[in-house]
Amino acid sequence: MKLESEQDSMLNGEHGRIMAKAMETVVKYGDAFGAKKLVPIKSGHLAGTFGAGPFGAYMKILQQIAEEGVKVRVPTTVNPRPGYDINFINRRIVFTKQETLEKLLSAIGVTPNYSCVCYEKANVPSFGDRLAWAESSAVQFANSVLGARTNRNSILMDVCCSLTGFAPEFGYLLDEHRRAQMLVRLNIKKMDAPALGYLLGKKVVDKVPLIEHYPFSRIELKNMGGSMAASGGVALFHVEGLTPEANDMKSVFDSPPKVTLTVTQDDLDSLRVRKHHMADMVVFGCPQMTCEEALAIAQNFAGKKVRIPTWFCLVPDELAEFKKHELYGKTLEAGIAIYDFCPTAALTLRIGKKHILTSSGKMFYYLSGTDYGTEEDCLRACGVIP
Ligand code: F3S
Repeated sequence: MKLESEQDSMLNGEHGRIMAKAMETVVKYGDAFGAKKLVPIKSGHLAGTFGAGPFGAYMKILQQIAEEGVKVRVPTTVNPRPGYDINFINRRIVFTKQETLEKLLSAIGVTPNYSCVCYEKANVPSFGDRLAWAESSAVQFANSVLGARTNRNSILMDVCCSLTGFAPEFGYLLDEHRRAQMLVRLNIKKMDAPALGYLLGKKVVDKVPLIEHYPFSRIELKNMGGSMAASGGVALFHVEGLTPEANDMKSVFDSPPKVTLTVTQDDLDSLRVRKHHMADMVVFGCPQMTCEEALAIAQNFAGKKVRIPTWFCLVPDELAEFKKHELYGKTLEAGIAIYDFCPTAALTLRIGKKHILTSSGKMFYYLSGTDYGTEEDCLRACGVIP
C-alpha cells in the first residue's frame, strides 16, 4: 500500500507509540482487503459499549490509549448503552465495568451520544463522505439513505480508524462496489419494512440490491435497513427513485439485472407469529426510536393501559425531545417503560420472559426465542387495539 507522508510518519512512530500501533493495524486491515491507499475520513462511529467481562481486552487497549493522552482525530460517536442498571443481574454480574468503559471512551474524546441512530443528529454525514463506522444498522443507513461511504468495521478497527483519521480504501468506499447486483420486485399490498429487510438480508446475504420504487418513509428505511444488516451482511441497498445513488435503474446497473427476486405479501406475513396473544412482553425500538416514531406509536396508548410489560427504547436526544410532548406522560400512564438503551442487549438474559414480541427484525434475529409481529400485532398484544 502506498502511504502519504503523514500516514508514513504515524506508522514510523513520530506521533507516538499508540498512533504507530493504530496505523499499523489500519494498514494491515487494508492490505488484507487489497486496498491501494488510505483515505481521510470525516467521522467514526464505535460499536463497543458493553462494559462486560468478554470486553476486557478491548477495555485494556482503551486504557492504554487514554493513559498516553491520545484522542480520536475525527468526530466519533458511539452505540447505545446496554441497559446495565435495569436489574440486579445486569448491574452486579454482567455489565460491572460499564462506568469504567464510559470514562475511557470519554477520555479518548468520543462523543457520548450513546445511540446506534447517530446519523439523525449527533453524527450526520453528507453525500459522498468517507467514514469508518461500526454498527451494521448505522453503516447501512449511512451508505444507503445518505450516500456516504463506509465499510462494516469491527470493534477496535473502528477505534484505530478514528485515532488515525484514515480508513483503507476498499469495498463500499469504491464506486465499483456500490453498483446494484440484483433487482428486488415487490408484490405486496401492505408494507412491513422490518419484515422486508429481514427477508432481504436472508436472501441477498452480502450483495447490493436495488428495490423497485416504493415510497418508504425515513423511519421505514431505518427499520428495514437495521433488519437487513442483521439477518444478512448487506451494507448497502438502493431504492429506485428514492435513495441518492438510484435515480433510476440505469444509474445503479451497468447492464439489465441478471438476478431478480420477488417478495410477496405471503413472504412478509410468514414472519409474523400467529399467537401474538401469548406474548408476555412487547418491545419497540431496535434500532432505537426517534421522537417522531415514538409519537406515532404512542398515540395508540393514550387513555389506555397495557396488559403486559411494554418497552419503548429511544435515542437519548430523541427521548429528551419526546419528554416535551403531552403524549410522553400519557405513554407512562398507559404503563409503558421508556428507556434510552439498546433493548436487545438489555434483554439478552430474558429474565422471567418467555414470549417477547417485537416489531424489530433485528431484535427478532438476534434475541433467541423472540417472536416477530407487525406494529399492529404488537399493539394488539399490548391490548390497546382490537
Ligand atoms: Fe441499535 Fe441495539 Fe438494535 S445497537 S440496532 S438498538 S441491537
